[in-house]
Amino acid sequence: MKDLTKLTDRIFYVGVNDRTKHLFEGLWPLPLGVSYNAYLVCGERTALVDTVDACFTGRLLANVRERLGDRPLDYLVINHMEPDHSASIAAVRQAYPAVRIVGNAKTLQMIEGYYGIACGTVEVKEGDVLDLGGLTLAFCMIPMVHWPETMATWCAEERTIFSGDAFGTFGALNGGVTDEQLDVEPFWEEMRRYYACIVGKYGQPVQRALAKVAPLDIAMICSTHGPVWRREIARVVELYDKVSRYEGEPGAVIAYGSMYGNTEQMAETVARGLAAAGVRPIVVYNLSTADVSQVLRDIFRYDTLVVGSPTYNGQLYPPVDALLRKIAERCIPYRRFACFGSFTWAGAAVRRMTEFAEGMKWPVVGAPVELKQGYSTAVEPACRMLVDALVEDMKR
Ligand code: FEO
Repeated sequence: MKDLTKLTDRIFYVGVNDRTKHLFEGLWPLPLGVSYNAYLVCGERTALVDTVDACFTGRLLANVRERLGDRPLDYLVINHMEPDHSASIAAVRQAYPAVRIVGNAKTLQMIEGYYGIACGTVEVKEGDVLDLGGLTLAFCMIPMVHWPETMATWCAEERTIFSGDAFGTFGALNGGVTDEQLDVEPFWEEMRRYYACIVGKYGQPVQRALAKVAPLDIAMICSTHGPVWRREIARVVELYDKVSRYEGEPGAVIAYGSMYGNTEQMAETVARGLAAAGVRPIVVYNLSTADVSQVLRDIFRYDTLVVGSPTYNGQLYPPVDALLRKIAERCIPYRRFACFGSFTWAGAAVRRMTEFAEGMKWPVVGAPVELKQGYSTAVEPACRMLVDALVEDMKR
């Protein structure tokens, strides 16, 4: 049987799939699972690059032992300390007591803080090279992709970058390991969702990291999540470049909250109007039932966002408020924005959404529509004017 975990003669996949966890970071749904990727690099000396989530420590160690046999593990390189990758460090040290743990100063501080390990470590800085004998590992700091300690590791002899979370995606690896062995189509949407949820706040650091790796002649990207990229490197880099520039493509997201259907009818009217004007695609989300990770994915993807909210306890409706906070946290520099809302005795939602847009420095397109009490055709002219203003703005 062909060994799919042998990526080259000297680099081996030893990661695992997780199809059990429901929520990544306790927040983000995993309908297609997720992989925690780790790699063995074998020169005259051996190095394990990253570990896996605590639930899969045993499987990681079995994968490493199977590959190494009686050989020692000389180094454990830690590119990223988030526990989905670092939680098995202590177990690796226990299984291989002589292993030297390689990380930068911030990494080593975190290893002590998380796992109480303070000895047997090697501190590396930008540009340092670890000689494995016949193979080298060079270290490149990429802070905030996605924690401050994060670094990438470059193996020049194999033209391989171990990139940490950069170029990662949700989705378990179904049988294959590389993009040549897998059906990669489901990963593109999952990559956008992963980026928007996990790394979306850090567009500028991702741009700096992309600039750093641009001069490298990369034949293989070994990220911490998702396929090993060989055939699709250009598409992966292009997608990460686009999302980290927060560049929206033509399309509209309409995200609304509604208790009794009145604000929802306004959302339907606006969606119908945009569709009649030829806007494509249009994605409509009821925020009480939507998976917010999908909403964020599409807000990163499309250039127009229309939000609707009832007034609730003198504030925004809570699911709308939660979405706007997530957008603000991710510092999205621009979206074409419009809003509508409703109230029964004292309006607040439209004002709050306008304040949100001011805080984001997004101009509000058109006059926000505010409905008092029940939906009727009387509000439709105002909705149509909102649609006209959006369509006019889209033509610019
Ligand atoms: Fe997959 Fe930031 O850890």
